[in-house]
Amino acid sequence: MSDTTLFKVTIDNITIEVPAGTTILNAARKIGGDVAPPAMCYYSKLEGSGGKCRTCLVEVSKGSEKDPRPMPKLVASCRTTVMDGMEVKNITSPKVVDARASIVEFLLLNHPLDCPICDQAGECHLQDLSYEHGKDGTRYEFQRRTFKKHDIGKYIQLHMTRCILCYRCVFAADQLSNKRVHGILDRGDHSEIATFIEKSLDNDFIGNVIDVCPVGALTDKTFRFKNRVWFLKPVDAHRDCPTCSGKVTLWNRGDEVYRVTARKDEWGEVEEWICNDCRFEKKKTSDWVIEGPRLIDRHSVISQGHYAGKIGLTKPTETFSAVHHGRQPKLLMDIHSVSEVNQTNIDLSSINGPAHSNNFNSNKD
Ligand code: SF4
Ligand code: FES
Repeated sequence: MSDTTLFKVTIDNITIEVPAGTTILNAARKIGGDVAPPAMCYYSKLEGSGGKCRTCLVEVSKGSEKDPRPMPKLVASCRTTVMDGMEVKNITSPKVVDARASIVEFLLLNHPLDCPICDQAGECHLQDLSYEHGKDGTRYEFQRRTFKKHDIGKYIQLHMTRCILCYRCVFAADQLSNKRVHGILDRGDHSEIATFIEKSLDNDFIGNVIDVCPVGALTDKTFRFKNRVWFLKPVDAHRDCPTCSGKVTLWNRGDEVYRVTARKDEWGEVEEWICNDCRFEKKKTSDWVIEGPRLIDRHSVISQGHYAGKIGLTKPTETFSAVHHGRQPKLLMDIHSVSEVNQTNIDLSSINGPAHSNNFNSNKD
């Protein structure tokens, strides 16, 4: 069958036509919204990814036009291709909803609930998955796994306890760098991300493993504990970079650049890989040409309060005059004046490592 053959597939009662060879997940993404199953390990830009986490399970209630029998078990939509006349149920299937809740429970067996101190909080796919598909309890009564700490270099922090073994970082290192130095060692519940003999991950493009990691297992050492992502303003910016496209998202607070990441699409996937130099070394606004606010498509906490929507910049209505029929307030307290207590001369973004009381005390006369 040639690649141009179109197959009709119905997912959650919506019918579309997709080229033969398309996976159910990608067909569902074409429809978009809640019809697209969540994916914790599949990554369209990484060859070979998928089939590890089972969050994308769906029910195939009709195999195809030729063989309409339903598939006996739920299938991983990232690994199953569509057939002509196939009918699939995602959120319309109670079986899928139930199975997904169990998968979340399973993924959280060993994952620490340390969101309050995790740098990934607010942009963690596991956090979103648990809120949207999980249950509010666990039946697990044993101690969670712990691991010996490994230092994987000056740029990337590894928290193995948070890893869900999705293999994305392994595929990314394999496909973006010429020599992968980390991988998944051991088997079963001993499996862990490691470099075997302490090595540092320092290839030019290795920083991208931070962006592909769906949880907080790999985070940016230059940004650790500096700020919460939802307090930062994402803006698109570019620079003339000799190594990569130089197209990034800057995460700013005021004039300070706290973090640089690749731009991500609506599925949370990197649009273009960026180099370590852009990501870790260019932390001044003057290093960049600012393009404008980044639209965060996912219904994420990050997009809250940023007043930038699909139709451009929308300023919030001035509440006081709106509720008082146009009358202006007589007196307004200025909460924006700069307080000395905050020691505004200290830039959190330029402190090496997390801020500590010494950073502030040593600055006092
Ligand atoms: S470190 Fe992150 S990207 Fe790598 S396998 Fe673990 S969860 Fe996946
Ligand atoms: S996204 Fe399909 S198994 Fe992980």
